[in-house]
Amino acid sequence: MTDGSTKRLIVVSNRLPYVLENNHDKNRWTLKPGSGGLVTALLPVLRNRGGVWIGWTGTTEEVPGITEIFHSASREAGYVLEPVSLSQEEVDLYYHGYSNETIWPLFHDLQSQCEFEPDYWHAYVKVNRRFAEALAADCHPDDFVWVHDYQLMDVAQHAREISCLVDMAFFLHIPFPPPDIFLKLPERLAVLNSLLAYDLIGFQTRRDRRNFIQCVRMLMKHARVSAQGHLHVIRHEERDVHVGNFPIGIDAAAFTTAAAGPEAEERLREINSRYGNRQIVLGVDRLDYTKGIPQRLRAFANLLERYPEVRGRINLFQVVVPSREGIPRYDELKVEIERLVGHINGLYSQLGWVPVHYFFHPLSQAELLAFYRAADIALVTPLKDGMNLVAKEFCACSIEEESVLILSQFAGAAAQLGQAALVVNPYDVEQTADAIYNAFQMTAGERRYRMKRLRRNVRTQNIFWWVDSFMRAAIDKELRDFPVMEEYIPEHHENL
Ligand code: UDP
Ligand code: G6P
Repeated sequence: MTDGSTKRLIVVSNRLPYVLENNHDKNRWTLKPGSGGLVTALLPVLRNRGGVWIGWTGTTEEVPGITEIFHSASREAGYVLEPVSLSQEEVDLYYHGYSNETIWPLFHDLQSQCEFEPDYWHAYVKVNRRFAEALAADCHPDDFVWVHDYQLMDVAQHAREISCLVDMAFFLHIPFPPPDIFLKLPERLAVLNSLLAYDLIGFQTRRDRRNFIQCVRMLMKHARVSAQGHLHVIRHEERDVHVGNFPIGIDAAAFTTAAAGPEAEERLREINSRYGNRQIVLGVDRLDYTKGIPQRLRAFANLLERYPEVRGRINLFQVVVPSREGIPRYDELKVEIERLVGHINGLYSQLGWVPVHYFFHPLSQAELLAFYRAADIALVTPLKDGMNLVAKEFCACSIEEESVLILSQFAGAAAQLGQAALVVNPYDVEQTADAIYNAFQMTAGERRYRMKRLRRNVRTQNIFWWVDSFMRAAIDKELRDFPVMEEYIPEHHENL
């Protein structure tokens, strides 16, 4: 690979950190922050060093003055935002379709939720080619290109076809399934070939990497796999492709600082004044069937049923961030959650106490941090998750170190945090209810002991550690080896 002294970092992901939103009242378009773990994780990286971020605008409408909107946002942000526009049909087939109705459920082991539709795949290839063209138009031979996530597995192959011959690495933020599940994918060979066009492929956990290598061994008869230090090398069509696992982190210091800041403090005081005499159990998730929200609500109901002494002394705050609206499975899930919340509250409410507080909207940053701080127990119980950053953010914000993390064994985060969290099988509602009860009763000493260990982990294996370990594997460089782009120093640099 090439010497990286003049490299720029070019990030390509389906989503930019902002989405365009039409403010109909004032008839003007504005950028609003995007949600999800990928954006949270990458923001501090781009803010630290600058670079270019290529991604979808988040709308299918014609936006007058779009170039100026993104130029001005780039000046503010400290890195260049390069928007890619998609038509409604492309969004339906590539984003809703192949990305979120085929790959997303399959890679989360939920094959019964999958739609296998040939047109979805054709649109996926076409849109990936569009991203590759946007990349080729923008990048110089010395750049380091880093493509993210399951929506864009096929970018490198197209970029190479149009002679974009830079180092290209890929990171999969979601799990990679075991062979018996991956084999169901009609385009399984094409997807493996797409991925093998990158120079480095990164996964969240050792298990994801092992699943991928097993699939390559089973399906790619001519590929040769060998181990090289902590990486695997796949020799394929006369190229070496490196494969490793790099668990993603968060900007823990920034979360801790902001959680102690005046805005979060003010919100925290409000929460404590209303709920300070009760233990708060917190769930924060995008609306997604992989997050195990119905199972979690059933576990909470099971707790109230089997341990009546907690009634009136505990509250579940469940925050659900709207996501992927228009996909039938997501719309159905919303109805199911609302029904369960209504059922639990109807059954157990008493005068002056409602067990479940349900929020179906994104929170402001200050509110989210205040909730993290106020919570005595976090319930992070996905059925399967690439990593789950909420678990890490909760620990970083747990400044008093008196709270407990209950964590699904199927979250990627369990590999790093499993020893100090209470680990549960999210399908086992009685076990989860018991874990909440144990956390409810846990002594301050044990809580502190566990939380200190969790916080040490999120502080050390943070987002910069993650980028550095990935870049060392990709190009033998670290983030600080990239020159800061002076012309894009942000005017208002927030920590978060
Ligand atoms: N989040 C957000 N707005 C909210 C609540 C949460 O932007 O109102 C963020 C949260 O801080 C976290 C991300 O959404 O960074 C969720 O990431 P996670 O890895 O837990 O799950 P994902 O949504 O990526 O599947
Ligand atoms: C997960 C995926 C990301 C995605 C995010 C939000 O974190 O790994 O790629 O951006 O969810 O989902 P959305 O469909 O709104 O981009």
